[in-house]
Amino acid sequence: MSQPDVKKVTTNTLQKMKAAGQKIAMLTAYDFSFARIFDAAGIDVLLVGDSASNVMAGHETTLPITLDQMIYHAQCVVRGVDRSLVVVDLPFGTYQSNPDIALASAIRVMKETGGHSIKLEGGEEAVESIKRIVKAGIPVMGHLGLTPQSIYKFGTYTVRAKEEMEAEKLKRDALLLQDAGCYAIVLEKIPALLAKEVSESLDIPTIGIGAGMYCDGQVLVMHDMLGINIEFKPRFLRKYADLNKEITAAVEQYVKDVQSQDFPNEQEQY
Ligand code: KIV
Repeated sequence: MSQPDVKKVTTNTLQKMKAAGQKIAMLTAYDFSFARIFDAAGIDVLLVGDSASNVMAGHETTLPITLDQMIYHAQCVVRGVDRSLVVVDLPFGTYQSNPDIALASAIRVMKETGGHSIKLEGGEEAVESIKRIVKAGIPVMGHLGLTPQSIYKFGTYTVRAKEEMEAEKLKRDALLLQDAGCYAIVLEKIPALLAKEVSESLDIPTIGIGAGMYCDGQVLVMHDMLGINIEFKPRFLRKYADLNKEITAAVEQYVKDVQSQDFPNEQEQY
């Protein structure tokens, strides 16, 4: 299904986009059908996020999703992609214990999915694992700010790094991740001016979610921006469609048509 003439997005492309002041568009995807639509629509980076734990599996947090489940979602997404860079989240518990375990998890993702990169959460504490994974030739995207795998440490999903101490740590962590070999960093739910300072201090691109307009790119969860998940209404979210409403109306109509025997009609049968 792959089209050889399509110019694929690589980690190098993202670097060049930052240097040229061109913004990066990233979106989550978890299956073949949506990945195919998003790829054709021009998305630069598709993130197989561990938010699959929430939006696909219905868990309250990202913690329960397993490496096998992430690998399944990533395999589905990769089959739908011609152009986008596919980034796969390492789920909670698959990289925090030590760099050997982190590398083994990253290798499984790369070998079994055909994805192009992994993403993991954390600053200083993740540096040794990042170095080990990068040394093995696997591109790593970092993730700072609100890191949902640490939700029980934070206690809430509110904006991070509003206080000076946490902001200073985040700035140091961003530089450490760049030095460790990350090719990009997600900044989640931090003040816009802090994200600006971090973005300007780095050579590698920052991708923001709830981190304002100065990041080098933006990422949203597909179910949120398409209006499938209607309960989630943070200030940073812009809804580009109201699919919950449209799907509900379509399905209600279908139920009516089946009940009234309007569907199928003579043209819709053999
Ligand atoms: O899992 C995810 O969807 C993410 C994004 C929120 C950046 O990590």
